[in-house]
Formats: sequence, C-alpha cells, structure tokens
Amino acid sequence: MSINDFTPLKLFITGPTYIREEVREAGTLPEFGHRDKENEKRFKPIMANLKKLAKIDDGYEVVIFNGSGSTAMEASIRSLVAGGETVLNVSVGAFGDLYHNMALANGKNAVQLKFGPGRAIDLAEMDRALREHRPQVVTLTHNETSTGVVNDIEAACDLARKHGAMPLVDGVSIFGGADVRISQARPAMYSTSTQKSLGLPAGFGIAFIAPEAVEKAAGVADRGHASDILKQLDRAAKFQTLTTPNCTLANQMCVQLDYIVNQEGVDNRFKRHALMRDMVRDWVAGLDGFELFAQEGRRSPTLTTVRAPQGLGSAGLKAVKERMRARGYLFDPGYGKINTALEKGGQRCAFRVGHMGDITPDMLRDYLSDLEEVFTTIK
Ligand SMILES: Cc1ncc(COP(=O)(O)O)c(C=O)c1O
Repeated sequence: MSINDFTPLKLFITGPTYIREEVREAGTLPEFGHRDKENEKRFKPIMANLKKLAKIDDGYEVVIFNGSGSTAMEASIRSLVAGGETVLNVSVGAFGDLYHNMALANGKNAVQLKFGPGRAIDLAEMDRALREHRPQVVTLTHNETSTGVVNDIEAACDLARKHGAMPLVDGVSIFGGADVRISQARPAMYSTSTQKSLGLPAGFGIAFIAPEAVEKAAGVADRGHASDILKQLDRAAKFQTLTTPNCTLANQMCVQLDYIVNQEGVDNRFKRHALMRDMVRDWVAGLDGFELFAQEGRRSPTLTTVRAPQGLGSAGLKAVKERMRARGYLFDPGYGKINTALEKGGQRCAFRVGHMGDITPDMLRDYLSDLEEVFTTIK
C-alpha cells in the first residue's frame, strides 16, 4: 500500500466535510494525558468557545462525548426519558427517524410523527400529535440532512413546552453554520457533532445541557455509563471527557474553535453560510429542469437538496459522482433511501450540495461551475 492510493478530494458532501490546512496541521500537535493539566489547555478554551458559538451564557453546560452526534443523541434518550414516559419523535426525514429508532432500541415508549420528504414540521399537526399522545419528552431535528430542511426549532420547542413536554434537539448538521438560538428555544439538551459545520474530523459528540435536564436525569433509571449525562457533566466540570479522548481531534478542535471565534468571527461565519445557501438557490434558478427540493422558507444554510431533471435517476447521479471525482471533488448523489422511494413513486431524484464548515463562496462557485459542465455532458 502507498499513501498515494488515497486520493485527495474536496468534499462537497454533507459531512464529513472539507478540512482547512491549519486544522490538518494541528493534527500533528503533541498528544497529551487526559487527566493531566495539558488536557485543560485544550478543553477549557474548547468549551468556552463552544459556548460563545452557541451564544449561551445562562446555565447551559457543555459536554464533549467520545463518539459522534449519535452518541450525544442517545445519551439524551437514555438520561432524559424515564420508564413509563412517552417520547414523541417528530421526524422530517432520515435523521428524525434515527432519533425514533434510538428511543425504540433503548426500550423507551416511543411514538412518531412523520412529515414527507422536503417538508418542515407543521406546527398544527404537531399540536394534534401532542394532544393525542401526551408525551413527557419530544425529540426534534433542527436541520434534516437527508432533505435539506431547517425546522423552526424555537416554535417547535415552545409548542412542546405548552403541552408540558421536554424538548430534545438534534442540531448535528447545523451547529457552527447558523445561530442556533439555544437560549431562545431552551431545549433540555441540544446535541451536535464535530464533522459538519464545525469543519473538523468526526470523533466527538457535543451537547449543551440545561439545568432542568440535570434535575430530571437524577430520577431516570438505567442511564448507562457513557450515556449518562450526569457522569459526563461531572467530568465536564473539570474540563475533561469521561472516557479517553482522541487527542489529535482535541488539538484540532482547540485551534479551529479559536479561529472561528477570534479570527473569522461567529456572525461572519453564519453570514457566509447564508450567502452560500443563496448562491446554490440562484444557481438552481438558472438551470433548466432543476428545482429546489426543500420547502420554501425552510431551506438549510448548510446544505441544499436539488431535484434533478427528469430522466436523470439515481444511476445518472452516480455517473455524475464519478465525473466529479475525476475533477477532484466528492459529489453527493442524494440520500439513498429517499431517492429509492422517489424513483419507486415515479418522482425525480434529488442530489445534495453540502456547503458547510469552512467551504468558502469561491470554492462553492468553482464547484457549481464544474457541476454544471458535468450535467451538460451527462444529459
Ligand atoms: C441531522 C443528523 N443527525 C444525526 C446524525 C448522526 O450523527 P453522527 O454520524 O455524528 O453520529 C447525522 C449524521 O449525518 C445528521 O446529519
């Protein structure tokens, strides 16, 4: 095997995503002991900068889990849904379904409210489901990566609260790319991960945990070990992880969060993502036979899903992927299960453009121009 076997590609998929050179280099910083004072040099600023990026200063604590976004989400289920309670999983796509499946896999009494692909949460329907099921806990997906839909998480959390339910939010593919307004939406736990809009490799789940979650978890049985938010919070209070962290990623995360907060600036980062969403929208508007997939007004700032022209099914999109690979890119031909269902129903397939993390408008412009050329050769 040679290292030349690994082809460098610019990732325009929806995570993992492109990594800046400085972050790559930070991967060579020294390893450290996770119970040594060197650990605090990394995790204290990491935690402080995560809070700045989340714009929280009011009681939420941040926890870093070894694992990924799913690890944090599963911990929210295990620590915050008690035996005998009902959890309503509101789903607008594959990752909403994931939260539901996690609840079922952990033996929770879970019911689901599902919206069709491309649709956002309809609050009137959610209201009906809350009246019908009277759940104690509700899970919500902030940004549905399979369809490119961003939900109004503040309104959905408010509605859950009106019915006396505790909201848990999956913010995996949006945190770091938009103001997620945790202080306004006030979920009991907001979960995210490193490999998407933070522009880092995968390896940590991240959670923002409200004081009410701490109170509730104390009364929930069988929280497990690494999925117990109380054990995690004890370690987080010392700027540590509960289990041995990936030191390479911690070094990279420390450097990257300092860059985001102190160099790029949090609001500039959010504006850059909104600009890239609009760039893809305008690009689609200029193409014959292409259309945006997600509901108008609820289109994600971190990825865009586009309906391909008639006749360009999943096989055609896979051919586009290979032609883009030859140009040095990794193209995303769409979420597999959704395209299979669309094709079965005689509908057009959808592909995705990831524009998250540290992708710049210039990089995106070049990518879209290459993609347009490839589409003309494939039709
Ligand atoms: C919205 C959403 N939730 C959850 C997940 C699962 O996260 P992870 O792969 O970090 O466990 C993903 C991954 O793509 C996602 O996009």
